[in-house]
Amino acid sequence: APGAQQFIPPQADTLDALRAAAGGCRGCELHRDATQTVFGRGGADARVVLVGEQPGDMEDQKGLPFVGPAGRLLRRAVDDAGLDPTGLYLTNAVKHFRFELRGRRRIHQTPDRVHVTACRPWLVAEFARLRPELVVVLGATAAKALLGPSFRVTRQRGTLMPWPASAERPEDFARVPVDSAGGVADAPAARLLATIHPSAVLRADDQDTAYAGLVADLTVAARALA
Ligand code: URA
Ligand code: SF4
Repeated sequence: APGAQQFIPPQADTLDALRAAAGGCRGCELHRDATQTVFGRGGADARVVLVGEQPGDMEDQKGLPFVGPAGRLLRRAVDDAGLDPTGLYLTNAVKHFRFELRGRRRIHQTPDRVHVTACRPWLVAEFARLRPELVVVLGATAAKALLGPSFRVTRQRGTLMPWPASAERPEDFARVPVDSAGGVADAPAARLLATIHPSAVLRADDQDTAYAGLVADLTVAARALA
């Protein structure tokens, strides 16, 4: 598969331009069976980017990330953690819904590494336009996309980490704050925090404990921004 890079116009310097281009991506085979590309959403001035796995059934139909049950739980957790929802940008590691047909039902299938790799240029392009202060990775797929295949969310969640050397051009992602005189102040590197995926909370045997863990991790994120 060719990957997404060739579908990203170098002159696409806004999120809207990227989103429009992503609508025509054929960087891997997932575009064939899915309804549409589900690009990220949120303000261009978002301080925090939340990265999920891939759109679900509902997201695929609506064309927006996190509008189904996992999104509802995520919004509640964001609220309970005291994260400002207006300062968030929501996106996914993979922009098309991967599923298996069973009868008439579309059953979620975890994307393979080839899909994550093919789609990563879109994520990198989003980071480069947004320059977030903090990236929160939700679950194993997003974590592996940014932190490599050996990263284990269960063991390494809930702590602030420096931007990983394995990610492309970290200097492109780091927000460069402008000081009161209009000059460029010291540029702190973007930071990253991993936590469990809201869908994993919905699947957990003990949902209350899993939910409390998600909120605790997001609270670390909220404090980092304060
Ligand atoms: N799960 C995800 O990872 N992303 C969505 O957008 C919805 C559900
Ligand atoms: Fe392109 Fe990503 Fe969709 Fe594959 S999943 S076609 S790389 S947007």
